[in-house]
Amino acid sequence: MARNSIEWKEVPNFPTSHFVETSIYTDEGLFREEQDKIFNKCWIIACHESEIPNPFDYRTFQHPGGAPLIVIRGEDMKVRSFYNICPHRGNTLLYEPVGNAKRITCIFHAWSFDSMGDCVDISRGKQGYQDRFDCQHAGLREVKTEVGYGGFAWVNVDDDSCTLKEYIGDAMGMLDEHLSEPLEVFHYHRAVVNTNYKLWHDTNSEFYHDYMHYFNRITGMIQPGYFDRKYTGYPNGHASVGSMSIKYDAYEGSKERGVGWPGLAPGGWVLIDIFPGMTYNLRTSVLRMDTAIPLGPNKLMIEFRGLGLKRDTPAERAERIRDHNTIWGPFGRNLHEDLLGCHGQGLAMRERTDSKWVLHGREENMTIHDEGGMRHFYAEWSRRMGRKAYDPYGQIKEQAVA
Ligand code: FES
Ligand SMILES: [Fe+2]
Repeated sequence: MARNSIEWKEVPNFPTSHFVETSIYTDEGLFREEQDKIFNKCWIIACHESEIPNPFDYRTFQHPGGAPLIVIRGEDMKVRSFYNICPHRGNTLLYEPVGNAKRITCIFHAWSFDSMGDCVDISRGKQGYQDRFDCQHAGLREVKTEVGYGGFAWVNVDDDSCTLKEYIGDAMGMLDEHLSEPLEVFHYHRAVVNTNYKLWHDTNSEFYHDYMHYFNRITGMIQPGYFDRKYTGYPNGHASVGSMSIKYDAYEGSKERGVGWPGLAPGGWVLIDIFPGMTYNLRTSVLRMDTAIPLGPNKLMIEFRGLGLKRDTPAERAERIRDHNTIWGPFGRNLHEDLLGCHGQGLAMRERTDSKWVLHGREENMTIHDEGGMRHFYAEWSRRMGRKAYDPYGQIKEQAVA
């Protein structure tokens, strides 16, 4: 039966962990708070080491907490990160997304910096500052950076944060043996979607939406073992899903896929969600990394990287690229189906409506269609925000909650 305006707003008859209030996806104030309490406190993937292989190679990165960053490999081969902000009068230092800079010279008044973040020249410094200020006082603001878990460059803008290892804990266990060799990015693209970053991460945290994926519906979902896969939650909001073989060839003819991946069974699949918006997705022959970079409460940039092994022969690489592009990348349909899902949510939630609830209530023993992956995420979100995801402004009367 259709519901009237009062029934539509009734608090769902679930435990409070099993639904959230929609303002957590739309509210500008909550978004600013997420930048402070989540993005500026967590470890975030900025790029991959193979994107900056040589000394002085850099990559610029829009950190989701707000700061524009430079990730640069020093002369000593160490990867470091800095604010992409000149300490003189706050100009942007590097404009290109990628490049090589032995010296970083600000275009405004020509102050110069090296790849370690040290200031090496202040134009007419002595004349203007006498002995009051010199290069020693003008280094770039460094941001904690660690390379790991498949060779990604992770950054944390909080100087007092835990280590990356402590942050990840055991969450990467299922991928450990598959990430022992050096990797290389062979594909990069971005999508900008009018939606909230959490709604994207949700699509990587539940697989009930396999109903939206044509191929998954006609292949994966009807394979034996599909409903045995289990979601496992880890501290800090991370989660993984168990591996299974998917016969992607079932819809493509009988061509065998030869290239594979070290330690992974043919057709194997491992997915690991790292809080608050990164997903490792290793399927058969390609690792796809999704990084959610929110630009506002209802604007999201997602960075997609396809990775193979650094030691690939040209033929092996070509096969990985073909697998990636035709199935899991921008020319496959799965990705666009996922984008459609969270785009539709963003479209429906962006205006102020009285649509109040998003349900995470499926319980199937934490198997593939259980919505426990999302519940695990929002428990961590609530812990870090100091707010209840089902009631961020404390407006629900306790007796109204099941
Ligand atoms: S703002 Fe960079 S040198 Fe003046
Ligand atoms: Fe999906």
